[in-house]
Amino acid sequence: MGGILTIDREQFIETAKHSAGGRDVIAVVKNNAYNYGLEFAVRAFWEAGIRSFATTSLDEARHIRSYVPRALIFMMNPVRDLEAVREYELHITLPSLEYYYEHHEALAGINVHLEFAGLFNRSGFEDAPGMVEVMEHQKTLEPAEQMHIKGIWTHFGYADELEMDEYEIERGMWLGLLETLGRSGYNFDIVHSQNSASFARDGILDGHTHLRLGISLYGSRPYYSLPETDFIQSLELKAEIVQIRNIRSDQKCGYGGSYEPDGDRRIAVVDIGYGDGLLRKRAAFDCMIGGRRYPIKSLMMSHMIVEIDGAVSLSDEVVLYSNEMRIDEFTAKGVGANSEQLGALNYHSLEKVILNDTGIHQ
Ligand SMILES: Cc1ncc(COP(=O)(O)O)c(C=O)c1O
Repeated sequence: MGGILTIDREQFIETAKHSAGGRDVIAVVKNNAYNYGLEFAVRAFWEAGIRSFATTSLDEARHIRSYVPRALIFMMNPVRDLEAVREYELHITLPSLEYYYEHHEALAGINVHLEFAGLFNRSGFEDAPGMVEVMEHQKTLEPAEQMHIKGIWTHFGYADELEMDEYEIERGMWLGLLETLGRSGYNFDIVHSQNSASFARDGILDGHTHLRLGISLYGSRPYYSLPETDFIQSLELKAEIVQIRNIRSDQKCGYGGSYEPDGDRRIAVVDIGYGDGLLRKRAAFDCMIGGRRYPIKSLMMSHMIVEIDGAVSLSDEVVLYSNEMRIDEFTAKGVGANSEQLGALNYHSLEKVILNDTGIHQ
């Protein structure tokens, strides 16, 4: 089977509401909604009061439109299939002057958000003049030929780097850009920049209409010093024990003898491995059985070996992630970003169980 992913739907909605704090939020649901499941997450976020969604994939955007027909759907990556954008009534990023001049005729009638590159610099305009050139060029066109410049946005690449000064710099650049444009009379209906870490640090920034949140909506802390109680994790990852064995000190176990006991040991062979998305770095730490932590000693494609004691029996569940073994605990231990641990999970091999699903979805 390869592990069981359990999500408490009621808790998921509560966590999202708490994290949004009553603000207008664009929920980042890319990569299968951080692997919580796109349909599940979009419908649950909608129930939590969230009306806008962002992704990087046109295919995901199509699906989102079918789940929540009235939502604002924002494409964070440059899109070239503008017919699909029209068909699914998407809002899209406008990432550069080159893109604009290449596509401006096909962009007629489409809702765009000007993108500022900032320090993150994945894509976007580097400064105000390029944006002004676009807006002035638009004024020379007939209304039917114009696109709708609805929004402006950027992404902060350093908001969770508390030890560095770069976040203050990128935030300053962005707020400076908004001020420069505002002074020249360029204002926007939708202004968004802040990810979870930025919102946790600053609250909503002046002049912003929306937050653009990912990980905090899903119940992980964007940085470790925040209180766990503000980010309740609704997800658990568990696996079954397939065998309990006693291993002598002169025996080895696993491929290439990867597990070498340092004495006579009792081990559990557990039905989850890296093929199910368990990161090797995560397997350097403990799992939890019956409320106690036990060391993972070897990781294979579909199995792992855990050193146990007499308290463990075959019917016990082995917990990899829960509110007692939080994803963000392992982020702090260096396993990888919260989203990296979630993104690695193999949605196809894991069994999914949704708890507290009323079946009545708005
Ligand atoms: C462009 C963009 N905005 C917002 C987010 C959400 O960030 P977080 O999950 O840290 O809230 C992401 C996530 O990677 C992103 O790429």
